[in-house]
Amino acid sequence: MAAPLNVALIGYAFMGRAHSNAYRQVARFFNPKHPPRMKVLCGRTAKNVKAAAEQLGWEEAATDWREVVRRKDIDIVDISTPGDSHAEIAIEAARNGKVVFCEKPLANTVREAEQMLAAVKKAGVIHMICHNYRRAPAVMLAKELIESGKLGKIYHYRGTYLQDWIVDPNFPLVWRLRKEAAGSGALGDIASHSLDLARFLVGEITEVTAALETFVKQRPLPDNPKKKGRVTVDDASAAVVRFQNGALGTIEASRFATGRKNYNRFEINGSKGSIVFNLERMNELEVYLTGDDPAVQGFHTIMVTDGDHHPYVRHWWPAGHIIGYEHTFVHTVYDLLEAVARDKVPTPNFEDGVKNQKVLAAMEKAAATKRWVKV
Ligand SMILES: NC(=O)c1ccc[n+]([C@@H]2O[C@H](COP(=O)([O-])OP(=O)(O)OC[C@H]3O[C@@H](n4cnc5c(N)ncnc54)[C@H](O)[C@@H]3O)[C@@H](O)[C@H]2O)c1
Repeated sequence: MAAPLNVALIGYAFMGRAHSNAYRQVARFFNPKHPPRMKVLCGRTAKNVKAAAEQLGWEEAATDWREVVRRKDIDIVDISTPGDSHAEIAIEAARNGKVVFCEKPLANTVREAEQMLAAVKKAGVIHMICHNYRRAPAVMLAKELIESGKLGKIYHYRGTYLQDWIVDPNFPLVWRLRKEAAGSGALGDIASHSLDLARFLVGEITEVTAALETFVKQRPLPDNPKKKGRVTVDDASAAVVRFQNGALGTIEASRFATGRKNYNRFEINGSKGSIVFNLERMNELEVYLTGDDPAVQGFHTIMVTDGDHHPYVRHWWPAGHIIGYEHTFVHTVYDLLEAVARDKVPTPNFEDGVKNQKVLAAMEKAAATKRWVKV
């Protein structure tokens, strides 16, 4: 194995843990040319970040991301913080010649996203955005079926990303519910994933119309539950989209879909067949093909775990020995490391991040003006 790539991870909560797991596991199951070395974990509170670094397997803990991204011994800066800090950290990391791996959505505004893209291009560094669902084997199989023409001409993308974690009106006003921290609500948080899958599988979106809704407008403050503050983002979004290739789509996201936990589902209909993916059954892909024997025609379920035929899974277990959520991050990190080794920008990258951000902004504008908006 060649020399390791030293990683600095900023943020150590939900995504910080998912990314840490990916760095820990990737060289144990895959064979990256340059394995990652978990050099430094960065947060804001010294005691907490130190404890997290020990638990998650990082060599050092730090509290000043500016110092961290300037360190000569760091190769990759991984940004797993809320959206309001992505631009600042990414731009500074790029200026210092680092590979920049950033969580979604790329930024809180199109302007910030464009500045981030300009910075990585100017510095000539490798960049990637973490839309990890592209790397579920079933989604990769969906991509292959579409690219090979097996589904024919694509007519529909029907994406739904549904959760229910804030149905309780007493759920506190966390950062995800504040525009200045998160940029938007369900839209940027989860519709962004469904949108990225739409662009990955079907193509570019040219025009949108949308509605946004905030059902609970005031919520208890996290550190003073007796007081309430205003929710400044959407709880749910619903959009109709037109694709460059003529397909018509819908992208719906909600944090108020009672009973739905992480229901990231899409259905794609083409002239020769249809496919259905649901993250909550992520080892499966439902397929319908018009060319099948009419006597047994219907949607059938493929277990996407056969290493001879399905991407990534040969590195894990024998067929039928399923994989989970965290594996999508391992696959993403593996592809990032291989891209760095080949000095080639992987996908999805900051260009995709900017394109996604423009569609999200168009959806917000469409919702505000109650019109169709060109992207
Ligand atoms: N790819 C996915 O499926 C996925 C899932 C969840 C979240 N995300 C994205 O990941 C990012 C982080 O979300 P999360 O769920 O991990 O949030 P979180 O609240 O669980 O964690 C945020 C972390 O960032 C740290 N942080 C905040 N500001 C900081 C600063 N200025 N300097 C250093 N550390 C700082 C916090 O201490 C915390 O450790 C967001 O952009 C979110 O949209 C992506």
